[in-house]
Amino acid sequence: MSVTVKRKAHFNAAHRLFRADWDADKNFEIFGKCSYPNYHGHNYDLIVAVTGDIDPETGFVIDLKILKDLIKSEIEEPFDHKNLNLDVPEFSNLNPTAENICVVIYNKLRKKLEAKFKIEITLYETPRNFVTYSGS
Ligand code: NI
Repeated sequence: MSVTVKRKAHFNAAHRLFRADWDADKNFEIFGKCSYPNYHGHNYDLIVAVTGDIDPETGFVIDLKILKDLIKSEIEEPFDHKNLNLDVPEFSNLNPTAENICVVIYNKLRKKLEAKFKIEITLYETPRNFVTYSGS
């Protein structure tokens, strides 16, 4: 019996979307206000979903304390109140769009969770704009 356990988390971070090989007009045309040179913040909401079998001994799919601590150490501590472009090495050469942040979060957590779990990441950049990634 496969059950999905979810944990919500949150971080605030600054970013700027741009390509260095485009001029300011082209960056504005494609990335809008997110291309402004001096960065701006978003309140990111994160949902991490872990799917697996219920352990008959504990009744858990995964201990939520373990998941909580993992999200804190892997995502909240490195991302919260940071400038994603400047402070987070994964984005030194990768535009920190919601799509790319979602994939980076997935890859970081995938490495730390047992292979038997299926995981899905949902990242809200605004209450109305959000993306989902579950590998492949
Ligand atoms: Ni933005």
